[in-house]
This record gives sequence, structure tokens and C-alpha cells, in this order.
Amino acid sequence: MSVLVFGSINVDIALYAHRLPRPGETVHGERYAIGLGGKGANQAVAAARLEAATHLVGRIGQDEFGDRARAALDRHGVHCETLQRCETPTGIALIGVDDAAQNCITVVPGANFAVDDSDVHRLERLLPQARCLLLQLELPLPTVMAAARAANAAGVPVLLDPAPAPPEPLPPALLGAVDVLTPNETETEALLGRRPTTAEEALNAAQTLQAQGVAAAAVKLGERGVAFRSGDTQGFVRPYPVESVDTTAAGDAFSGGLASALARGEVLADAVRFAAACGALATTRAGAADAMPTAREVRALIEAG
Ligand code: RIB
Repeated sequence: MSVLVFGSINVDIALYAHRLPRPGETVHGERYAIGLGGKGANQAVAAARLEAATHLVGRIGQDEFGDRARAALDRHGVHCETLQRCETPTGIALIGVDDAAQNCITVVPGANFAVDDSDVHRLERLLPQARCLLLQLELPLPTVMAAARAANAAGVPVLLDPAPAPPEPLPPALLGAVDVLTPNETETEALLGRRPTTAEEALNAAQTLQAQGVAAAAVKLGERGVAFRSGDTQGFVRPYPVESVDTTAAGDAFSGGLASALARGEVLADAVRFAAACGALATTRAGAADAMPTAREVRALIEAG
């Protein structure tokens, strides 16, 4: 095994409309799609599509959406032997997407918020075979922290995608357990109180996050590129030119790509370049897990750029 993911699993209902409704307003949409989502599941699918052996630990309900999520994970080649099915309904997300490829998402966490220490124990049993552990913030924070501690104890690098943006700065104990933190602009603002918009501001943010305890940080600026810092080494990856139709799960594609590249031994600079191409390609297709690119597509985009 190379990539281990501890995270959320949702069923996404995506509604595509020319523009998103304002509060109190109704708009007509063009079409809808139901598919696998949840940041944990999306990141696991991204890594599996990139040919990394990938295990996902998390929870789904004993409902129809749970069956649907499980079938999709199997179809995408994610190992789910340690997935728990519980009485709480499967997590669900309602996603609005407009013509500018922007989205807004409401999540009802359901079974994801039933994850507890017993799931962390199941995760611990998989750590000896893992090359890295991928975490996000859609599970209860104490379980995310326990998973990070367990990975530290096992000597397994921890990658944390601090999404969705936390309501307050993350505990120093969690930041100190992270090997690579990958916030976007909104998440950086939630963590540091300032929103980076330029390469220089993103590099400064990465340096501040290092001062707060993370070993390395990749600060994502969406269509403006990615800044990264590890130790005293830093760099900036310019954006890949693509035609975006739906930005949902682009950050998840980035995380899955980063994990798969680090798991096969790439240095951070190369892994970030690869991950940025994964994120760009995910925006060219509708959906979340279903939008994840293959390794061949990523290599082609990197070579073309
Ligand atoms: O990052 C995108 C994901 O966020 C969606 O798939 C949705 O389920 C929410 O978790």
C-alpha cells in the first residue's frame, strides 16, 4: 500500500445553473447529477486513479446512499475493507455550480461525524504499510488529531488539507504533527487572518505556517498557481492553462495527486507541480470523484506546459 486516507464520504447532488441563487431567490437549473463525493473519498479516488494503492478509512450509513458510495469507491479501485457502516445516514452534499465553474456547497455530515476512536484504531493497523496519511477536516477534529498522532508515532508522513476552512485557527498540536499542509486562499485566511493573493503573499503565508509548526506548506491560489516551502527551499508553480467547467473537488485532486507523487518518492517541488496539474484537470470535468484525472492525462498536461 502507499496512500492511506482517513476522511469523509458523501453522496453529492450537483445542480448546474447559469448562475447561483441569492438568498430568498429561486433560479432554474440546466441539469443535475448524483455522484460520489466527500473530501476523503475524492482524495482517495484521485490517488487510486493515479495508480497508487489506496486505502480509505471512514464511515457510511446502512442506507441506499451508503450502497451507492461503496459501489463507486469499489469501481474506482479504492480499498475499503476497513470502511464502517453505521446507523447514522451517509453524508450528503448539495452543490450548486454556475456557468463560471464556481460552486457553493452545503454538507450534512451524517455518518462522517459518527467517526470515533474505533476508526482511528482501524487506521492504526494500516499504518505500517502506508507511505503517507492524507487528512482533511470533514471528520470530528479530535479523531483527525488522533490519526495524525498515530501516523507520527508510526513514522508515516502526514498531509493535511485544512478543508473546509476551520472556524478558528488549528490547534498547535495538530500543526506540529503535519508534514505538508495544503490550504487554499480561504483556508489560509482562516488559519492566519490574511488572504494571500500573490505569489509573494502565498510564500509569506507558507513561511508563517512553518513557524507555527508544519514542516512544509503548499498554499494554493486556484487559477493563479501554487506557492510551496519546505525547510528553506521554496518555489512557485504557475497555473496550467485549461478550460474549467466545474471547480468542485479541484483541491481534492491536488491532495490525491500530491500524496501519490510523494508516495512514489518525488521531492516536494515535483510533487506540487504534479498535484497542480491534477487540480487543473479536475476542473475540466463536471463532478467530484468522477472528475479525477488519470496519470496519463496528468503527464500529458505537464509535458504540454
Ligand atoms: O471538495 C469537494 C467536496 O466537498 C464535495 O465532494 C462535497 O461532498 C464536499 O465534501
